[in-house]
Amino acid sequence: MSAARKTVIVGITASIAAYKACEIVNLLQKNSFDVRVIMTKDALEFVTPLTLQTLSGSKVLTDIFEPADRWSPVHTSLADSASLILIAPATANVIGRLANGICDDLLTCVVYASRAPVLIAPAMNENMYNHKVVMGNIAKLEKIGYRFIGPVKGRLACGHDAIGHIAPAAEIIKEVKKILSASADKSQSAGGLRRIRRSSRSNER
Ligand SMILES: Cc1cc2nc3c(=O)[nH]c(=O)nc-3n(C[C@H](O)[C@H](O)[C@H](O)COP(=O)(O)O)c2cc1C
Repeated sequence: MSAARKTVIVGITASIAAYKACEIVNLLQKNSFDVRVIMTKDALEFVTPLTLQTLSGSKVLTDIFEPADRWSPVHTSLADSASLILIAPATANVIGRLANGICDDLLTCVVYASRAPVLIAPAMNENMYNHKVVMGNIAKLEKIGYRFIGPVKGRLACGHDAIGHIAPAAEIIKEVKKILSASADKSQSAGGLRRIRRSSRSNER
């Protein structure tokens, strides 16, 4: 699959693993994806937009009310441009908001306004991850087709080795490519089916 011209929107949320997003954005860029970064307001406490802007080659977006360059609102134009939306790292908070219809910032609005596949890489404390509400929210999102990668076992911010560490960047990129090539195959076969239907209709006349 050629990665050229595929736009990956990377949503970065306020986890200690936000610094890992720098590596993920860098790898996506090296793999020829167009990368657009959205940070939640709280994520700005962890990494600077300047770093991510430099790595992605595009302005980092945070504010849903920022005036758009063109007539369409920023969240809908971004949503339309996405081939895939990756949220890495994903907090318990953003997973909860997405699972419960809460669109109160740019990232959640873009996810809801887009028809692109969504891949989520959670990162959080082990007890947060195993909390029944978080588990229920993940199950809810999986049921509607959102995909999850990780978390894995590793050294957490609290100091002990446990489940909750963000999946390795290389694994996340591999999953992005897999999802995009599967959706390209699906749209190719849908195109073929449409052509067959059209030609069989023209034979009917
Ligand atoms: C030092 C620190 C590290 C944190 N790490 C995480 C984390 O890894 N995962 C998580 O779900 N929340 C974590 N939190 C809590 C989130 O930052 C908090 O819920 C925040 O409001 C989430 O905002 P967002 O989901 O809009 O980005 C952390 C908070 C602090 C102060």
